[in-house]
Amino acid sequence: MPISKPADLTDQVAIVTGAARGIGQACAVALAGAGADVVVADVLPGDETVAKVRELGRRAIFLATDVTSRAAVEALMQRAIAEFGRIDILVNNAGTLGRVGIEDTTDAIWDRDLNTTLRGSFYCIQAVLPHMKERGSGKIVNISSISGKIGGVASRAAGSDRGRSGPAYAAAKGGLLALTKWVAKDVGRHGIYVNAVAPSGVESDMTRGFDYGVENYPIARMGQPEDIAQAVVFLASQASNYITGAILDVNGGIV
Ligand SMILES: NC(=O)c1ccc[n+]([C@@H]2O[C@H](COP(=O)([O-])OP(=O)(O)OC[C@H]3O[C@@H](n4cnc5c(N)ncnc54)[C@H](O)[C@@H]3O)[C@@H](O)[C@H]2O)c1
Repeated sequence: MPISKPADLTDQVAIVTGAARGIGQACAVALAGAGADVVVADVLPGDETVAKVRELGRRAIFLATDVTSRAAVEALMQRAIAEFGRIDILVNNAGTLGRVGIEDTTDAIWDRDLNTTLRGSFYCIQAVLPHMKERGSGKIVNISSISGKIGGVASRAAGSDRGRSGPAYAAAKGGLLALTKWVAKDVGRHGIYVNAVAPSGVESDMTRGFDYGVENYPIARMGQPEDIAQAVVFLASQASNYITGAILDVNGGIV
């Protein structure tokens, strides 16, 4: 088993789900900055992310993918391998966030948030593992949330006096932490690492218009997508070769 060494992803291939914008886009760019080629997977067009990766001199393709579809995820893995010949890194970042309370959580909201975060990550992990096992290496990084650790993060919409990320989101992100640990225990002997990042409020389309009260955080600012992306690079690289099944808190010190 290889020991840890400085992060260098030269010529490695990463798949990032939900990479058309926000944290996923920042992950794609940061991984490319460390030398990786990137497959951008999203339901939204990924052209902007592809252009940003190519500006760094790395290869990138966009594959339109709904991670809630098993068939779409299997096609994603097959096409990524056909295009680049290998997959070294999988970042499960696609996610949706319902902010309504338990009484107002409909089946549709429950299914959407559980399906994107938890089922989507399950499908992607299941589809990539045979390839990673065959190669005897791989790094999987799951984007969870402090919601999944503490049961929802306080965030107020303008004009409202309280609010919180919803129960479906918290359950999905908490489930993803358990899945991370379960799979990590299963695949370590194959040279495959599985870790999670748990961010707090990060500036993106998901959080626009909401106040996270970050003046009370030890690091008193909103997180930026780049803050999360650099943690992902660490967990995706050889710099973390004795870390698996871990949850890396990237939250300005609030938890
Ligand atoms: N922004 C935050 O404060 C914050 C905090 C903790 C965790 N997170 C997590 O980070 C991840 C990225 O969030 P973001 O803030 O960049 O939000 P975002 O809404 O900007 O990005 C989410 C991306 O996921 C994609 N996506 C949604 N459903 C999908 C599906 N079924 N298949 C494929 N792609 C899909 C969207 O199209 C979008 O590009 C999410 O998992 C989110 O839960 C965000």
